[in-house]
Amino acid sequence: MTVHPTVSDPANEVPPPVRMYEMLYSSLVSQLILAVAELGVADAVGDETRHVDDIAARTGTHPGALYRGLRALASVGVFTEVEPETFALTPLAATLRSDVPGSMRDLARYVGLPERQRSFGALAHSLRTGRPAFDDLHGSDWWTYIAAHPERAEQFNRAMASMSVMVNSSVLDVYDLSDARHVVDVGGGHGQLVGALLQRYPRLTAVVHDLPRVVPEARAVLTGLGVADRAECVGGDFLESVPEGGDVYVLCWTLHDWDDEDAVTILRNVRRALGDSGRLIVVDEVLPEGDTPHFGKFEDIVMLSLLTGQVRTEAQFVELFEKAGFRHQETLPTRSPTSLVVAVPA
Ligand SMILES: C[S@@+](CC[C@H](N)C(=O)[O-])C[C@H]1O[C@@H](n2cnc3c(N)ncnc32)[C@H](O)[C@@H]1O
Repeated sequence: MTVHPTVSDPANEVPPPVRMYEMLYSSLVSQLILAVAELGVADAVGDETRHVDDIAARTGTHPGALYRGLRALASVGVFTEVEPETFALTPLAATLRSDVPGSMRDLARYVGLPERQRSFGALAHSLRTGRPAFDDLHGSDWWTYIAAHPERAEQFNRAMASMSVMVNSSVLDVYDLSDARHVVDVGGGHGQLVGALLQRYPRLTAVVHDLPRVVPEARAVLTGLGVADRAECVGGDFLESVPEGGDVYVLCWTLHDWDDEDAVTILRNVRRALGDSGRLIVVDEVLPEGDTPHFGKFEDIVMLSLLTGQVRTEAQFVELFEKAGFRHQETLPTRSPTSLVVAVPA
């Protein structure tokens, strides 16, 4: 039997069965984070150092059980036990507060939705068939399901807004758009990226294009950010067409939701709207080849279990661009897991 050494050092330091034992239970880190996010534990701790009895009273939880959960999370840097049975937030735990910029609590609650968790639990189905476990379990695809369940759709869009806040500043930092005139964010969700762009570039105007049901939510976000006078929110279906008139089109965390055929359709619609000048900026994870670790390799498994999409390599983006009438110009990594993949008309 040939056994190949792995790239990760820890696996070489502990015996493989021990390492495997730990990996088999590693999803409990995520499960515990989802549970404390659901229960509002980080909000209850706030800026204080609190005894677990106090936190339990504020969250309606069992003190002994909550202690065990917080002790386990503190061992991986989420919360810290500053004195026996007394906890404070760490920077990681603070992201689970509801009231902080860049809060990840909405995302945590969304990741914890039973429909998603069941799909992850049925990954063997996806590996066997290449099809989303979600569809098999729920009898419909994700987009049809959330269209029929408005509360899930709202949770989805709020979670996406958490994610876009996570990437926005790193995107803005690596790419200068001071010469841009009119940006169209295709599948722009709640408009956080457009909001950040309009705040940074005072002469810029923009369109957020998304499904009609998302438009009122995007409008409210842009109004809250104080940029609604330079932003239009347009409802539509990007598989049919996208608004014309932009010199910069953005597809942020959107192409990876779709298989190659649909991705090319979206890109062709952008190409048609863009005309022969201007550029397209795809913000997405770009997978390194081989064993190189990258978070996108697990985001790809989220796509595999829930949707027909996939996270792609640069070569795969280049191929999609060519089929849709674009030429790849450059790929710029950011501090977040996403890169900017820039294309121009071929
Ligand atoms: C993964 S989210 C990304 C949202 C946003 N770009 C961001 O970075 O937060 C994908 C977006 O595509 C939108 N979407 C899905 N199907 C669509 C369609 N057929 N036409 C237009 N938008 C669509 C969703 O409503 C959602 O806002």
